[in-house]
Amino acid sequence: MIRGDTEIYGVIGFPVKHSLSPVFQNEAFRSEGINAVYVAFEVKPEDFEEAIKGLKALNIKGVNVTLPYKEAVLKYADITSDDVKVISSANTLKFTSEGIEAYNTDWVGFLRSIKEHTDIKGKKALVLGAGGASRAILFALQREGANIYLWNRTKSKAEHIAPLFGATVVDMPEDVIHEVDVIVNTTSVGLNENDPPLFNYEKINEKHVVFDVIYKETDLLKTAKLRGAKAIDGLDMLVYQGAESFRIWTGKEPPIKVMKKSVQGI
Ligand code: ATR
Repeated sequence: MIRGDTEIYGVIGFPVKHSLSPVFQNEAFRSEGINAVYVAFEVKPEDFEEAIKGLKALNIKGVNVTLPYKEAVLKYADITSDDVKVISSANTLKFTSEGIEAYNTDWVGFLRSIKEHTDIKGKKALVLGAGGASRAILFALQREGANIYLWNRTKSKAEHIAPLFGATVVDMPEDVIHEVDVIVNTTSVGLNENDPPLFNYEKINEKHVVFDVIYKETDLLKTAKLRGAKAIDGLDMLVYQGAESFRIWTGKEPPIKVMKKSVQGI
């Protein structure tokens, strides 16, 4: 029941109406008996600064930050964790008496999800894309001791970030596809049905583990499955990053099972 003392959490982004975060975060609060609600704040870019100040002024306890604000939000953080500094992107804010604390739980979510399917240590991984999602995943892979190859449509962007994560830039995914164990798509390619493929997906074999941050079965994942590879979509990563945010906000163990169940089949 919403009362005078109900705490407010949310997600800030644009667009954000279709976010699944309100679904599993509210389920988590309910399941843990926490008197809090989680809502979506769709904020236009020109209103972003005012919105962040407003969140603080209204005593909102915490928010997730999603596209396109994960980098822009750093400017408003009073305390940033070391991973946020390296990744240059935050997806979780906690408002406290000390100020605005910024965290990145995307890399935690990715690692937890992929580790349920394969061991990363010493493996060769090819990462496609060099944006914010890529940097979080590169951080996780480096921490876990993977050998990383990085490909991006705009090569200069890959070259810019590769040294931060000990990655080797490749001209084409096909250059290393036969020698890598893990392939991770961090780009938005596959979101639309008629997106042209990033490389020849027929080169995937049954030894590959293929991870896509998109949380539906993309062409990449479909082909990976058909070719006998392990195919993992981004839904668990999404829930796990949210679970980690929940832990940061409440100090409580997130009810993972309940959270996962709430978004199944959505
Ligand atoms: P995110 O935070 O989701 O990573 P981003 O920072 O905007 O979003 O990064 C988007 C990534 O998807 C980039 O690596 C981008 O490649 P460019 O740097 O060349 O723009 C990649 N991307 C988007 N559309 C793409 C397409 N049609 N083909 C290949 N890569 C694409």
